[in-house]
Amino acid sequence: MNNNARRPVGIFDSGVGGLTVASAIHYNLPNERFIYFGDTAHLPYGEKSHDAIRYYSLRICRFLLENDCKAIVVACNSASTAAYEVLLEFFKDKAVFVNVVDPLVDYCCQHDYHRVGLIATHATVQSGVYDKQFHVQKKSVELYSLATPLLAPMIEEGFVNNAISRSVLETYLSDPQLKNIDALLLACTHYPLIKQEISEFFHHKMPVLDSTEVTATALKTALAEKELLSDQKSGNDQFYVSDFSENFLRTTKLFYPEKVNLEQKNIW
Ligand code: DGL
Repeated sequence: MNNNARRPVGIFDSGVGGLTVASAIHYNLPNERFIYFGDTAHLPYGEKSHDAIRYYSLRICRFLLENDCKAIVVACNSASTAAYEVLLEFFKDKAVFVNVVDPLVDYCCQHDYHRVGLIATHATVQSGVYDKQFHVQKKSVELYSLATPLLAPMIEEGFVNNAISRSVLETYLSDPQLKNIDALLLACTHYPLIKQEISEFFHHKMPVLDSTEVTATALKTALAEKELLSDQKSGNDQFYVSDFSENFLRTTKLFYPEKVNLEQKNIW
């Protein structure tokens, strides 16, 4: 086996959202050890400028590379759309990179969806990256993108499955742009945490697609191509946040009921 294969996989997001992707990686690639970084000091990324998101993402990737990561999963749509190209420019020779946009677009294009709705942060919608990707891969897809900036902070606060989340979702999802769509893309990694509520709004009749499983599969393929798939877990997963919050710990425990190593790390 390649000597580098047992090095960890780095995963990052602004907060708890990337845990939805980390969890899919944990179940689909059980031999991989990962280091998670939640940049809770700077969330929400979706309301920051692209320059700020690039700056944070570069610094986090440097930290993950200093911690010997063989691969980095940009488990945040705002960072995947605003910073991915820059990350490749700086670090593509140092690690395998995977983002959350390409796998979701690829998956959607394999299905017979024509009118596709998308909900995401302002940063993701304004980047126009999804529009460009669909234009390149499947011109027949009509994309209707809606910025839903309250959702990520609401989820970070733990407001899920309650009267507030239902009311916020109802307001956003009733938008005329989302009428007559064939599928809805959750283009923010926080949103799988409220996927059930979103599906309920559409009476479970709408395909609601997210990037968790497809990103885990994309990582597996990318690691296999470089012969970097680990055959054995080489230690415990590690979780870092830039600012400690009880909610982060609570959400981490939803995915990892076993003991979690969570450390606050100031990398700025
Ligand atoms: N989870 C993130 C995303 O996929 C960021 C949400 C935020 O911090 O605004 O865009």
